[in-house]
Amino acid sequence: MQPPIAALSLLSLAASSQAAETILGVYMFHRHGDRTPKSLAPTNLTTLGYEQVYTSGQYYRSRYLTGSSKIRGINEDLVKLSQLSVTAPVDNVLQSSAMGFLQGFYPPVQSVQILASGDKVSAPMDGYQLIPVNTLATGAGSEDAGWLQDATTCFNAKTSSNNYFTSSEYTTLLNSTKSFYSSLIPVVNGTFNEKDVTYKNAYIVYDLINVAEIHNSSINSSQILTNSTLFQIRTLADGHEWGLAYNETDQMRSISGMQLAGEILTYMNRTITSGKAGLSSNKFGIQFGAYATFFSFFGLTSLQKANPDFMGVPDYASSMALELFTNADLSGGYPSNDDLQVRFLFHNGTATNTSEPVVYPLFGGNADAVSWSDFSNGLGKFAVSTTEDWCHKCGNSTGTCAAYATGGSNNPSTTSNNSGNGQHMSAAIGGVIGAFVTLAVVLGTLLAIMLLGGFRLVSKKNLAGRGTPETAAVKA
Ligand SMILES: *[C@@H]1O[C@H](CO)[C@@H](O)[C@H](O)[C@H]1NC(C)=O
Ligand SMILES: *[C@@H]1O[C@H](CO)[C@@H](O)[C@H](O)[C@H]1NC(C)=O
Ligand SMILES: *[C@@H]1O[C@H](CO)[C@@H](O)[C@H](O)[C@H]1NC(C)=O
Ligand SMILES: *[C@@H]1O[C@H](CO)[C@@H](O)[C@H](O)[C@H]1NC(C)=O
Ligand SMILES: *[C@@H]1O[C@H](CO)[C@@H](O)[C@H](O)[C@H]1NC(C)=O
Ligand SMILES: *[C@@H]1O[C@H](CO)[C@@H](O)[C@H](O)[C@H]1NC(C)=O
Ligand SMILES: *[C@@H]1O[C@H](CO)[C@@H](O)[C@H](O)[C@H]1NC(C)=O
Ligand SMILES: *[C@@H]1O[C@H](CO)[C@@H](O)[C@H](O)[C@H]1NC(C)=O
Ligand SMILES: *[C@@H]1O[C@H](CO)[C@@H](O)[C@H](O)[C@H]1NC(C)=O
Ligand SMILES: *[C@@H]1O[C@H](CO)[C@@H](O)[C@H](O)[C@H]1NC(C)=O
Ligand SMILES: *[C@@H]1O[C@H](CO)[C@@H](O)[C@H](O)[C@H]1NC(C)=O
Ligand SMILES: *[C@@H]1O[C@H](CO)[C@@H](O)[C@H](O)[C@H]1NC(C)=O
Repeated sequence: MQPPIAALSLLSLAASSQAAETILGVYMFHRHGDRTPKSLAPTNLTTLGYEQVYTSGQYYRSRYLTGSSKIRGINEDLVKLSQLSVTAPVDNVLQSSAMGFLQGFYPPVQSVQILASGDKVSAPMDGYQLIPVNTLATGAGSEDAGWLQDATTCFNAKTSSNNYFTSSEYTTLLNSTKSFYSSLIPVVNGTFNEKDVTYKNAYIVYDLINVAEIHNSSINSSQILTNSTLFQIRTLADGHEWGLAYNETDQMRSISGMQLAGEILTYMNRTITSGKAGLSSNKFGIQFGAYATFFSFFGLTSLQKANPDFMGVPDYASSMALELFTNADLSGGYPSNDDLQVRFLFHNGTATNTSEPVVYPLFGGNADAVSWSDFSNGLGKFAVSTTEDWCHKCGNSTGTCAAYATGGSNNPSTTSNNSGNGQHMSAAIGGVIGAFVTLAVVLGTLLAIMLLGGFRLVSKKNLAGRGTPETAAVKA
């Protein structure tokens, strides 16, 4: 009943007061730029990757700070920190991507200060603007961010993801692609153990070849890598990662998308609250993260029903934006909640003036925008925005979660069958828990290879210093 009415009123509004739209706030989720392969940890943002995120920052500057979709009341040139929220997990590639983006978003503005003594001081680096990138860290416990940890510590999400490895989709493909992956062995046997070149490691095999295709003009046995083979390698990796990140009938594995939804709602709520209070703050939130989070969010909001391409791993420097806007006349003050709407935009790879983000309908509908209440209810169905909620959904009751496990008797999470799930978990992949998810699988594989052969020169000590699975999990 409601959607048609909403769509109608949207149409009539658009017709009566054309181009009266005002953007009130934006929340973005952004993938990092081009990087070095995981097989040569620590991974770094490359020069190409830096250029990609910088260009994206320039594009969004022209869209949201200076252009016709300018966010109402946001500073154009000189950053005002209270208007922004920039977050990224503790990870070199993601933190660097955030900084590269900001350099394009708020370029340098030279400023000269006159001191009490009369001396003049001018800012270094032509007035490079200093914008903090806040961290979203496992266990860092910023209640403010509602983000306690990534999926690697969420018990039920791990179990759910691991169920993919026992699904018929997976076992069928593992079997049917054996000879295809065998044909790739000469390309990657310098890095991978032969027995690991299977669908089980679809993403990491793809990752290595993809990076080499971009950066190395003399990749091993490149005659094997025809266009159709490359396409197949990528498509198989897409299916593998999607299966780990989302399952319609078992959504628990999408915890990172649930947390992102929680952050979006919390931030947009703050945008609205501060707007109503007449404050000029909380206008633009941006978070840098992994493709697995994109996937979980896409699945939870049914974007794959709008376009099956959403089941393909987004390219480097891809971005999605949620625009909070209104068509109401603002002369009477901040619009009421009924006049607020949200639309979803996505751009695959670096957004530029000549290749701009496109609007897609959320929640399997067909409207280009949804009302704020439909949006917050829609996301609210799965959003995780508090630690308590996280603990319950994840079935965790120890550590930080102990505080919420009191009573026990009528708390569903404490009665869940942890031991039963645990069996699944260890059965899935010998010794390696598919945390979020494959990446841990992958890291384990690489570690095994490094220890068993290939990389004998690398000492175990050095390997240990190369980052935890959590670090790896966000470098997608
Ligand atoms: C990444 O940078 C570090 C130094 O910051 C370097 O040791 C490492 O080899 C680089 N990784 C690659 C794959 O180039
Ligand atoms: C959640 O539970 C799992 C398994 O018991 C544990 O490994 C993980 O550290 C817990 N996470 C937190 C934040 O307590
Ligand atoms: C999705 O979950 C259902 C129910 O748990 C399961 O039957 C199916 O195999 C799963 N699919 C994938 C791809 O994991
Ligand atoms: C794997 O595929 C072969 C044929 O390619 C088939 O004979 C065999 O039964 C399959 N095994 C499984 C476990 O599906
Ligand atoms: C990789 O495979 C090629 C072709 O089969 C072979 O010549 C080469 O020795 C192999 N390299 C390693 C490191 O196993
Ligand atoms: C190609 O082979 C060399 C040496 O065997 C190895 O170091 C390199 O990683 C291989 N390239 C790929 C893409 O596997
Ligand atoms: C490119 O690939 C060749 C052949 O595998 C390898 O010898 C070389 O080290 C690679 N170069 C880089 C920069 O990775
Ligand atoms: C393979 O794809 C590349 C880039 O997409 C294109 O330039 C090239 O012509 C294609 N090669 C063949 C044989 O189709
Ligand atoms: C948004 O704010 C309203 C009141 O201002 C509150 O009732 C609601 O719980 C908030 N929702 C979220 C997701 O923070
Ligand atoms: C993004 O592009 C990749 C290919 O580069 C494709 O596999 C994927 O499906 C695309 N995703 C979307 C949402 O368009
Ligand atoms: C993109 O467009 C904006 C305004 O439409 C313009 O200011 C900017 O210079 C353009 N950027 C590039 C790289 O062309
Ligand atoms: C726990 O497992 C037992 C049997 O192993 C089953 O009877 C019970 O329903 C399960 N409880 C939950 C909450 O899954």
